[in-house]
Amino acid sequence: MTRTALSNHVAGILLAGGSGTRMRPLTRHRNKHLLPVHMRPMIDYALGTLLGAGLSDLLVVTGRQHMGQVVDVLGSGSEYGDGVEFTYRVQDEARGIADALALARPFAAGRRLAVMLADNVLDDDTPREAIAAFARAEPPRAVSFLAEVDDPSAYGVARLEDGRIVEIQEKPAVPPSKLAVTGLYLYPQDAFELIETLVPSQRGELEVSDLNNAYARAGRLDHHLVTNWFDAGEPEPWARTCRYVQDHPAHFGDGRFRLHEEA
Ligand code: G1P
Repeated sequence: MTRTALSNHVAGILLAGGSGTRMRPLTRHRNKHLLPVHMRPMIDYALGTLLGAGLSDLLVVTGRQHMGQVVDVLGSGSEYGDGVEFTYRVQDEARGIADALALARPFAAGRRLAVMLADNVLDDDTPREAIAAFARAEPPRAVSFLAEVDDPSAYGVARLEDGRIVEIQEKPAVPPSKLAVTGLYLYPQDAFELIETLVPSQRGELEVSDLNNAYARAGRLDHHLVTNWFDAGEPEPWARTCRYVQDHPAHFGDGRFRLHEEA
């Protein structure tokens, strides 16, 4: 599928909200997703994953305090390649990932969704083919990307039976596996209806894991395994992410991000 054809089927959504409490004081005056990871703003890496998969029509959701900074850094999208277009929406309060995703409903306009958290860095080509297959699948199914990690308790963790995700536990004290749920999610259009049925968690947020569980319960959640995944949203993992990118510059070549630099 060409870049335009793919974007007619799949809306790209980049979630860059939240209050960044775990990265204070760095995030007191700056959106977490604009903090540097090696030589680029953190958000460029998630953007690179979505653009690299062939999506070009992206919605960026962030909080009201930081929208100006985010627009300042990303612009209209034209610097990222011909036909790349960014649209922006404000999330007034940090009420969770699923709440931020709900704001994408008018933008998605009947399309399927490829959603990525802007603090995730993924050095793996799996999403490219996975998103192309997801765009064509009938009937559409939700897709998660899982990464094996030593201590998964800081993340959503998948419980599998017979090779299928049957449940995702959010930040469990006793993880059911070592498979963390990364911040890249593919959803059919009915994600918006399912979000309406969610109730806030103990931390007062609409959890993306609850949305994923709705698909898992219905037997509609597939997954792919990925490697070299980082959630840069906390100080120590952030430092690890910076080191990884610095040590693997060729994997994060300019062309993968700012498409205009490909030539
Ligand atoms: C969020 C999700 C979690 C997921 C993680 C990936 O956690 O709630 O399920 O594993 O992103 O980055 P947060 O970083 O908001 O704590």
